[in-house]
Amino acid sequence: MTRTMTQAQNSHKSGKEAGRAIRSGRIGFWQKFRLLQRVVTNYAYDARRFRRHAYLYEARRREQLCARVLADAHFLEYGMALRNARPGFGVQRAVRLARDLCQLHDMDAQDGRGAEKSKSMMAIGRSVLSSYLEFNAQTQQGDLDEVRARAHLLQQHVTTENPAGTRTVTREAIQSASEIDFAGFAAARHSVRQFIPGAEPVEEIRRAVSIARTAPSSCNRQTCRVHAFTQPELMERVRKHQAGNRTFGHELSGLLVIASDLHNWETVGERYQPWIDGGLFAMTLLYGLHAQGLGTCMLNWSVEKTQDKLLRAELGLGDEHLVIAMIGIGWLPDRFSVCASHRLECDDILQLNQIDKSPPH
Ligand SMILES: Cc1cc2nc3c(=O)[nH]c(=O)nc-3n(C[C@H](O)[C@H](O)[C@H](O)COP(=O)(O)O)c2cc1C
Repeated sequence: MTRTMTQAQNSHKSGKEAGRAIRSGRIGFWQKFRLLQRVVTNYAYDARRFRRHAYLYEARRREQLCARVLADAHFLEYGMALRNARPGFGVQRAVRLARDLCQLHDMDAQDGRGAEKSKSMMAIGRSVLSSYLEFNAQTQQGDLDEVRARAHLLQQHVTTENPAGTRTVTREAIQSASEIDFAGFAAARHSVRQFIPGAEPVEEIRRAVSIARTAPSSCNRQTCRVHAFTQPELMERVRKHQAGNRTFGHELSGLLVIASDLHNWETVGERYQPWIDGGLFAMTLLYGLHAQGLGTCMLNWSVEKTQDKLLRAELGLGDEHLVIAMIGIGWLPDRFSVCASHRLECDDILQLNQIDKSPPH
């Protein structure tokens, strides 16, 4: 009898398999109680982090101000892009945006290192203000004078690189850019768990992250950050915290950790938004990597607080960084097996809601 077979038989007896243990038999009262305790403790962990970092009361920290700048800039862009855009709308938002930008500007003047972090937000916020003031060139409202004065003080942050405000697009341009075999592209993506050795895919990751920037996000807040690892010794340190790569992780050429910054949220209702935005971002990133010819496998971060803290300590990620998921990346062999992963039928998923207009019989 080989050693592997003995191990397999032993694990079968104990109900354990490679990966996740399976439960068998009835659960007793105390087991249920302890499970419930873990549910409550882990919810409390999430809630405490959300309360601590979101700006539920006021935005004081640089990160919170940056987040509010992006959200308020989006509010103004949104209003200007509407079919019946109304001059004078959102003045209070514009005032808050202008004040936040000035506060960031002052913070940056005191701390040059931090300034680098708010550079993009300053540029976006300031450009949206320009666009908003242009839109309101004929509007007479006292509060707009404050916005104009503050915008003037922030002149140095105007950038022509990032168009902000609104822009006109055409159906023709959208449709011609969409003339691709997207169904074929999507169907050719598989979770890959066999790889060949290859170069560190740094440029490919960079291009994929650039594509992932196009993912939609709540109020354009763009809360996700990608922590990328391509060197074997670093990848090893990260991947040992994640169980789902155990059988193939050593073949990876890259490992990405996607995290969302909890400083970005303003209301209690947004408490699950980081996971939603994170999921959309992760999927766009996955397609971005797929477009570079790389094989990918999503790696779950379905863990409890102790494990989460261990990973964050390993990566040096503060309490405000909510880890969403990881992505394993590698070079594709010429020929290999993947799971068929048969999908449900469209009618299993889609419920088309329509008023029944057939004549009564
Ligand atoms: C959030 C998420 C976490 C996942 N975690 C793992 C994982 O830890 N290990 C793994 O091998 N596959 C993981 N997968 C891959 C799924 O098993 C796979 O997407 C699914 O079976 C469908 O197969 P396909 O991706 O080949 O279409 C994960 C997928 C998602 C969306």
